[in-house]
Amino acid sequence: MKKSPFVYGVTVSDAAFTNRESEIKRLKSNLLNNINTMIISPRRWGKTSLVEKVSKQIANKNSKIKVVNLDLFATSSQREFLEVFASEIVKASSNKLDDWIDSAKNLLKSITPSISLGVEPMTDFSLQFNWNQPTKNIKEILDLPQKLAEEKNIKLVICIDEFQNLASFDNFEQFEKKMRSSWQRQTNVTYCLYGSMRHMMLDIFDNSSRPFYRFGDIILLPKISTKKWIDFIVKGFANTKKEITPELAKTIAETMDNHPWYVQQLSHYTWLNTNRKATNRNLEEAIDELLTTNSPYYLLETSSISRTQLNLLKAIANNEEQLTSKSTMDEYDLGSPNNVTKNRNVLMEKDLIHQSENKYIFLDPAFGLWFRREFA
Ligand SMILES: Nc1ncnc2c1ncn2[C@@H]1O[C@H](COP(=O)(O)OP(=O)(O)OP(=O)(O)O)[C@@H](O)[C@H]1O
Ligand SMILES: [Mg+2]
Repeated sequence: MKKSPFVYGVTVSDAAFTNRESEIKRLKSNLLNNINTMIISPRRWGKTSLVEKVSKQIANKNSKIKVVNLDLFATSSQREFLEVFASEIVKASSNKLDDWIDSAKNLLKSITPSISLGVEPMTDFSLQFNWNQPTKNIKEILDLPQKLAEEKNIKLVICIDEFQNLASFDNFEQFEKKMRSSWQRQTNVTYCLYGSMRHMMLDIFDNSSRPFYRFGDIILLPKISTKKWIDFIVKGFANTKKEITPELAKTIAETMDNHPWYVQQLSHYTWLNTNRKATNRNLEEAIDELLTTNSPYYLLETSSISRTQLNLLKAIANNEEQLTSKSTMDEYDLGSPNNVTKNRNVLMEKDLIHQSENKYIFLDPAFGLWFRREFA
């Protein structure tokens, strides 16, 4: 059997990647022109895939630009972040182990790094610091990229995924100021900071009282249009000796509200169910499979909210528009108008719903479908 042309759950940057022409252009031009860039979107709309794609293109074409990709998803403290940050920057600046050791010793000398080399020195290289003088350490590490870039006569592009995680560590307010004051002076270094917690990211970068306000260009990554999805799905089937009509491909995209991860997942299930030519039935079964597969996650989500919040979700699922009208509040048992407002804010902060043209809708389209089947 042929391999499925549809991919989800891992980042896509080659065959399974579609569209994003204008975002690629903008991000690439920013990063090549020393314009720091922040990318914000809800989960699984394609931030990491986009940054990976652009990183590869930049690295392949410019030997004097070194790209560093860091992911803070699993980082659990500020110190751990700084150690990884320093190690990865040193590693990106050269491909020789001896250079790494020299750079660490010369550029971080006043904070005496200890270097650990595992069985595979080229992959297991990492730096640790003794944190006797934390303030000095922090400054030296944050200044490291510019010093290194000058010394090696290179430019650095530093991409940091799930950047908002830093905000959950102690002393973020001070750290935020230090990062900003060091990084904004770095003429050889460009930062690409991105993450999926929209509220936290916007609060860091789009709040005029915070240090990172106007740090650079903010890209609010959109979903991918239905039209692009139709082409992508039709081609994916055709390339693997199957067939789907543009109409059915359109239904796949629309059912999943053009959400990149889910459109790929639903296309994949439909493709698997299809013998030669996709039918409505193949698609309907695929939707059932998709909801069943994801339901443990949705159950968890619904059990984590209060009863009145759940009721509010029911009202939203039924497309009620006047959430604070007496009849809606009575029908769904929503409590007082105050409760409605409070609960609505909680649901928004949890990224369960968002506002779209005067209306609240589910941010996760498949969760919305599942929820309607279960509750509405
Ligand atoms: N340009 C694209 N073309 C086709 N599919 C895409 C594209 N971008 C993303 N996807 C789909 O969406 C999924 C999620 O992409 P990715 O991991 O890049 O998103 P993310 O925004 O970084 O997610 P998270 O918030 O979970 O980190 C991919 O596995 C893929 O199925
Ligand atoms: Mg990601």
